[in-house]
Amino acid sequence: MARAPKPDDQIFQLRMARSAPDLWPMLEAIYGDHPGYDAFCADLKDALSAAWKDRPSDLKLLDLQRDLEPDWFQRANMAGYVFYLDRFAGNLTGVLEKLDYLQELGITYVHFMPCLQPRPGDSDGGYSVMDYRNINPAYGTLDDFKAVSAQLRQRGISLCIDLVLNHTAKEHDWAKRAAQGDRAAQDMYLMFDSRDVPQAYEQTLVEVFPDNAPGNFTHYPDFGKWVWTTFNEHQWDLNWANPQVFLEITKIMLHLANTGVDVLRLDAVAFMWKRLGTRCQSEPEVHMLLQALRACSRIASPAVLHLEEAIVSPQEMLPYLGRGKHDGREGNLAYHNSLMVQFWSALATRDTRLMTHVLATHFPDRLTNATYATYIRCHDDIGWAITDEDASALTMSGPAHRSYLSDFYEGGFPGSFAQGVLFQVNEATGDKRISGSFASLAGLEKARNPDEAEAAVQRILMGHALIAAFGGIPLIYMGDELAMLNDYSYLDSPDHAHDSRWVHRPAMDWALAEARHNGETTSSRVYLGVKHILQRRRVTPDLHAGHPTKILQTGRDPIFAVQRQAPTAAILCLFNFSEHWQHLPGGWLRDHGVTRFHDALSDTQVHLHDDQLALPPFARVWLT
Ligand code: GLC
Repeated sequence: MARAPKPDDQIFQLRMARSAPDLWPMLEAIYGDHPGYDAFCADLKDALSAAWKDRPSDLKLLDLQRDLEPDWFQRANMAGYVFYLDRFAGNLTGVLEKLDYLQELGITYVHFMPCLQPRPGDSDGGYSVMDYRNINPAYGTLDDFKAVSAQLRQRGISLCIDLVLNHTAKEHDWAKRAAQGDRAAQDMYLMFDSRDVPQAYEQTLVEVFPDNAPGNFTHYPDFGKWVWTTFNEHQWDLNWANPQVFLEITKIMLHLANTGVDVLRLDAVAFMWKRLGTRCQSEPEVHMLLQALRACSRIASPAVLHLEEAIVSPQEMLPYLGRGKHDGREGNLAYHNSLMVQFWSALATRDTRLMTHVLATHFPDRLTNATYATYIRCHDDIGWAITDEDASALTMSGPAHRSYLSDFYEGGFPGSFAQGVLFQVNEATGDKRISGSFASLAGLEKARNPDEAEAAVQRILMGHALIAAFGGIPLIYMGDELAMLNDYSYLDSPDHAHDSRWVHRPAMDWALAEARHNGETTSSRVYLGVKHILQRRRVTPDLHAGHPTKILQTGRDPIFAVQRQAPTAAILCLFNFSEHWQHLPGGWLRDHGVTRFHDALSDTQVHLHDDQLALPPFARVWLT
């Protein structure tokens, strides 16, 4: 008598049937003509079922739980915290001791910055990975990692880690074999015998690190090849046109998923596909590959979400959340880079019209099965991703506005409150990016008196209230909750001195954290303010990321307005980007659904004077 199939196998078959239509057509379109295509498909099927077999039973239960609650990541209780393990807590076991601190703040999601084994020496902050199956030995072992992930799960905290898709370190085993002449290994990368092809590509490529890593190719005389190196010389771009790259990376991805990771941050995805005559960014194949990777996760580790890192212009960014035929099938999360850039732009100009224009014009009010990672600062620089078209819609010059923002945030512009550091000045394009901590860019470092310090505190809190209300998972960057300033000690480190992004990657100041409850110091006030924002967010379920986010025209340049259209009642979130009082007519508020005049953020009743709502400097209110 034939034995009945085991429920576990049946679940896998169901998952395969559900996601097969998202997977195979993508792979067929990309790799169908490859001589080894059939063998590749068979290998991939084996890899998927092997990963499912290896998946620990508690994670399979989590898979089911998330099938039942697919909106878990969109809920108002979600709040993220992003940090380098060593700078925050020394190592993995150190993190366990800091979980109470994070939970007190209201954190339900942590992003461990690159934690897989990097190359020795300068590793681009860990983004130059030599072994994807090993944890950085400085942080601990794979077993330590699994223990931490289990602890986090128990506490209801989701774990995000990086998976770098565009490149490996040149010390990765594939790269080492390639350098020794192994043909199959060479085919994992993009290598050329002569300079002609690289030169042809260079005609239209941009430079990511023009200062310290100019050009996109590196010549290695010892093995006679030109290697594609978009970022740094030690980061070799993978050849995604080779199905073996897809297969091997998928195996790695599923292996990481089975260690108990909830979110995979797919790094530098825009660069994965190369096409001659283009910038080789965000080509259609990138989205096909990302949809296929997503389908693989949905089959073998469905609890896991994909956060796609593409720091590009508004129109180019949205497809990472699945547009057109990829709707609902690509990234579950992507960074809202435009919101971040527009926050800083409006803070400098005290004028939210460009912000309103960009966010209202280019972004839909809702997404399918996806949401934004909203943030004000992260470990990277700020690039002024404002297009010439958007600037001219507001009768501004794109180049002039971008250059103004750099000058303003570097601190040199007359009247600027900010203190930042330039990053990767590109003489050819005039592009100047900016590094700096939230607090330093918001004016705290330069503050000469209590009033200026107070303005900085209010700017920081307004930024946090914005990312908490906009729709998405708000990500707090380590130290910002304590208003930590720029740290210039990176200049003394030979591995970091060339990279000003280290100015805003300080070691956690636990003395400040200890004093967080005193309510008097700047850092304590910021801490308590951020904690309060997250707490109010948690009890305001109408901020669920699935509810539409509508940007409104206020007719008052310094006031930015977002309406969150929950089915029960809309919330009108207002932000005053200037240091002056502003007023909004009661009629306008009522027209936009405000009936109770209750501010969900301060949890107080709001009173109008002469039928006007008065908003103090840097006010933020969430009106119901
Ligand atoms: C991403 C990371 C950045 C890194 C780059 C190359 O953009 O955020 O820090 O330098 O990828 O891996």
